[in-house]
Formats: sequence, C-alpha cells, structure tokens
Amino acid sequence: MSNTTNCRVCNGTVGEFFDFGRQPLSDAFVEPGADPAQEFFYRLAVGLCTGCAMVQLMEEVPRDRMFHEAYPYHSSGSAFMRTHFEELAKRLLDTELTGADPFIVELGCNDGVMLKALADAGVRHLGVEPSGGVADVAAAKGVRVRKSFFEEDTARQIRAGDGPADVIYAANTLCHIPYMGSILTGVTALLAPGGVFVFEDPYLGDIVERSSFDQIYDEHFFFFAAQSVQAMAARHGLELVDVERIPVHGGEVRYTLAHAGARTPAPAVAELIAQERANGIADPSTLQRFGANVLKIRTDLMALLSRLREEGKTVVGYGATAKSATVTNFCGIDADLVTFVSDSTPAKIGRLTPGAHIPVREPAAFSQPYPDYALLFAWNHAEEIMAKEQAFRDAGGRWILYVPDVRVV
Ligand code: SAM
Ligand code: TMP
Ligand code: ZN
Repeated sequence: MSNTTNCRVCNGTVGEFFDFGRQPLSDAFVEPGADPAQEFFYRLAVGLCTGCAMVQLMEEVPRDRMFHEAYPYHSSGSAFMRTHFEELAKRLLDTELTGADPFIVELGCNDGVMLKALADAGVRHLGVEPSGGVADVAAAKGVRVRKSFFEEDTARQIRAGDGPADVIYAANTLCHIPYMGSILTGVTALLAPGGVFVFEDPYLGDIVERSSFDQIYDEHFFFFAAQSVQAMAARHGLELVDVERIPVHGGEVRYTLAHAGARTPAPAVAELIAQERANGIADPSTLQRFGANVLKIRTDLMALLSRLREEGKTVVGYGATAKSATVTNFCGIDADLVTFVSDSTPAKIGRLTPGAHIPVREPAAFSQPYPDYALLFAWNHAEEIMAKEQAFRDAGGRWILYVPDVRVV
C-alpha cells in the first residue's frame, strides 16, 4: 500500500485507492477578478479502511472553510427534493413522532426544507445548522434553528435544554462529518431510549456500480454502505435496524439506528449486507476497477468535448453542482470547452466555478440561444431537468452524460 492514513471511525489503516490530485473547495464559487492566489486547494484522494471497510477521504478540509455564512447550497432548489423531504416529514408524523410532545433534531437542516413541514404541524423540533446564510432562511420560514456544528457538546447541551430526542435526522450531512466519534457519542447521549437516528447519504454500492466519481469531493468525507455503518454503529452502543435504498442524488441509502437491543432489525439489513458481500462493493479489486473506469470516463469526455469544439459546436454546463468541481478539475475542462454553466442558485450566479473558472449564469441564459450540447453536471436531477428543458431537445439540443459512461442523449 502506498499512501495510508488512520480511519476516522475505527483508527485502523486506510489504504488509498484513487488520487484526484489538487482540487479546489467544491462550493467556493469565485468572484470574477479575485486574486487567484487566494483560492484554497487540497489533495483529493480516497481510500478503504482495512479494519472496518469504511471508504473515506485521505485528507480532511477544515470544516469552517466549507460551512460558513456564505455556504451557497440551498436544499429547496430542487422541486423533486422538496417533495422527497415533505414525504419523509409526513411519514415521520405517522410513525416515530406519534407520542405525547415528540421532539426531533435535524443535523444540517439547511434552508429548512424538511423541518418546515414539521414546524407547520406544531412538532417540537430543532435544526442544527452551522452555515449561517441557509440557517437564516430556515428561521425565516418559522423553523427553530441553532447556528452551530453538531458534535458531542452540542448534543449534550440540547439534551439538557430540550430533553431527549425521539428522532435525530440528517440528510446528506453525516457523510460530510469526519469527526464521527464525537457525533455518535453525541447521538447516543441525545437519543431517547426508544428513539431512532435516521440518516440518508450517497451509497457506496451505487457509486461503484455507476462509476459516479463526482460524488467524491471535499464535503463528502465518508462513503457509507450497510456493512460499514453497522460496524460503526456498534462501536457506539447503537445498532443498524433498518435500511432503505432511495432514488435521490444518484442513489442513496436511508439508514435507521437505534440503541443496541431496543428494536429488532428489519430483514432488509441482513439482505443488503449479503448483497454488498456478494457484489464485493468494498473489495480492493472492485475499487481498483472503479479507478480504471474513472480514467476511461476522463479520456472519453475530453475526447468528446475536444471534437465538439473542433466542429464549432456550442457546449454549456447545466447545474454548477459541488460534484462538478471534481469533474472539471480532474478532467481539465475549462471555459474554452464549456462556455458557461447555467444554475438557478442566486449565490452561484455571476461567479466562476471553483478551480476551472467557468462563468455561472442564470437559467434564462441557457435558452438565449440554446447551445448545441448541454453537459449535465446535475445528472442526479436528470428527470426533473430534462422534463423542464424539453424545449431544448425540441430545438435539436442534446444532453451529454458522463456516468456510468460518456454518452450523448
Ligand atoms: N439536509 C440538506 C439536504 O439534504 O439537502 C442539506 C445538505 S447540505 C449538502 C449539508 C449541510 O450540512 C450543510 O447545510 C452544512 O452546513 C451542514 N453541516 C456540516 N457539518 C455539520 C455539522 N457538524 N452539524 C450540522 N450540520 C452540518
Ligand atoms: P445538487 O446536485 O448538489 O443537488 O446541486 C444541484 C445544482 O443544480 C444546484 O446548484 C442547483 C442546480 N439546479 C438548477 O440549476 N436547475 C434545476 O432545475 C435543478 C434541479 C438544480
Ligand atoms: Zn475503519
């Protein structure tokens, strides 16, 4: 094994299996004219723990560099995701939140996309959100928010002030947090004896199967699977009692943990773990193959974009996603190949993408006039976006996709 580091879950040895090289912060959109020397870069590489099979980044970016007042990602930007979270809120109301005066805590509540529905239903709740800008948006919707990072101390303070939580929930947040020991000690302290910790994050099984290498960037520190989550939970007196594959953000799993022995695990847990073992999703050979696929995608995508440029075709990007920072910077895509990226997020519009410095423009720019090709960086929202942009197809436009392989549709 060449590069190694210590596992942030079990302290075992993590062996590197892929190096994306020097990368910028994925959500640090640059002001035009800013001093390039001020842009922060780090080495993005990913490895596998030989002790607990957790896939994780080799290097950690300090959290305050990523999650701060100006964190640009607003969860409510996707209609599909709004529905997803509203449905979960309804389900929780019917299942885990039926006792007298139930209490739910959400880590990374962002702009309140999930908690708003529970606030409206009069449920006692608290969002813990360190990024001040999005936390303010949540508060303006009537969501009760604490502006801080969740960790052991925060959990103990919440428990002292509000009592135990019946549900602790985190979407696309737990995998962002390297200091897992502090988080799970905090969860154990805050969770009511019969309560559940529910979290949903990109699934290693889907990433490997789809070669979706752009799920790997600074903010995504861990790449969970049922087997690694089960081992992680057990280290903290918790137990994995349910898993559910969910078709969002390119394939996720919703995990449910409870205090060990408090609930009978659903059959789905053993089934998914058996499937993971059979498919060898965390086998070194599988991860080596994943790396080979990533290199092929880079070669094919650059060949396609270069050919289109030679043919005089216009190509723009669609969705200035955090994921796209890995694609543009790892492949070497710049504003010569992709003229601009269209995105609906106010905090991104008018800026340049991290590292690659491709201008981000408002959604209206996409149709003025339509480009010949659109590189769909927000491929996880493909259904919603392709439906919304049917006029682009009708005008002869074509989408470029790059996972699981490079193709034009
Ligand atoms: N839950 C939303 C969703 O699924 O769309 C937001 C996900 S966003 C990708 C990740 C969020 O986690 C950010 O809003 C960030 O500020 C927050 N976050 C990062 N570290 C955190 C921590 N230690 N405790 C609570 N929230 C955290
Ligand atoms: P995500 O993949 O992290 O959810 O980010 C999606 C990005 O794509 C976000 O910057 C918003 C943008 N977006 C659009 O510009 N138009 C759309 O229709 C959707 C769904 C997202
Ligand atoms: Zn480990």
